[in-house]
Amino acid sequence: MDGDLAKAIPGVSELFRRARALTVAERAHLVGRLSSAPWALVVGGLRLDGSSLLDVGCGPGLLAHLLERCGYAGTYLGVDPDERKVARARAWLGESPRRAFRAVGVEGVEERGFDQAAIVDVLYLVPPSARAALVAEVASRLAPGGRLVALTSGGGPRWKRAVDRIQERLAVVLGVTRGAVVAPCDGAEVASLFSQAGLLDVRVEDAGAGYVHGFELVSGRREDAGASD
Ligand SMILES: C[S@@+](CC[C@H](N)C(=O)[O-])C[C@H]1O[C@@H](n2cnc3c(N)ncnc32)[C@H](O)[C@@H]1O
Repeated sequence: MDGDLAKAIPGVSELFRRARALTVAERAHLVGRLSSAPWALVVGGLRLDGSSLLDVGCGPGLLAHLLERCGYAGTYLGVDPDERKVARARAWLGESPRRAFRAVGVEGVEERGFDQAAIVDVLYLVPPSARAALVAEVASRLAPGGRLVALTSGGGPRWKRAVDRIQERLAVVLGVTRGAVVAPCDGAEVASLFSQAGLLDVRVEDAGAGYVHGFELVSGRREDAGASD
């Protein structure tokens, strides 16, 4: 991982201060998300130079904030069907011509041609039978050559699976997170969904070292224009 990138990820107290427009509970949730997932690896999997990014299931906007801190120079669209999360993202980050949040699922995104897209910790909330369609919807919004990165639970020792399941269920039962289901979705399954969606160069990396949860980072890219001619 790039050392400069890791340094650009804020500490928990800094993030807590930065999100002062939110309630204490909302700030605590953000801080919990920051410290419990390998964000430097997620951001490191994305291009920071001028490009466009679609963040599917953006939640309260942590990825948007981290991208800004890391000097992301492109445009950002975060979408999430939970309007509470989108209101939260808007409240502490604001919107600009380069950054917008919308309370819709990916099927509500009319734009196409994104250079990259991210799905961070979302697929376990989608029924297994609906995951292929969701990934295909995201892939169809990529430009030729565009990149898709997904962080999902998985990998590491078996006890981490149990920790993942307890925490994921608790978040939904307590109403912190909304999802149609809570059903594990590991890197191998996501890689298969990427391939079914026609993505190339699909890779799965173990991203959970140093975290209580097991994480896998899956990446792939849409075929370049004219590649199949
Ligand atoms: C654990 S949170 C992750 C939020 C954010 N990506 C992050 O890492 O901080 C999962 C998010 O997925 C959203 N979500 C649930 N079902 C979804 C779906 N079908 N499409 C897009 N987002 C969904 C939830 O509303 C929630 O904000």
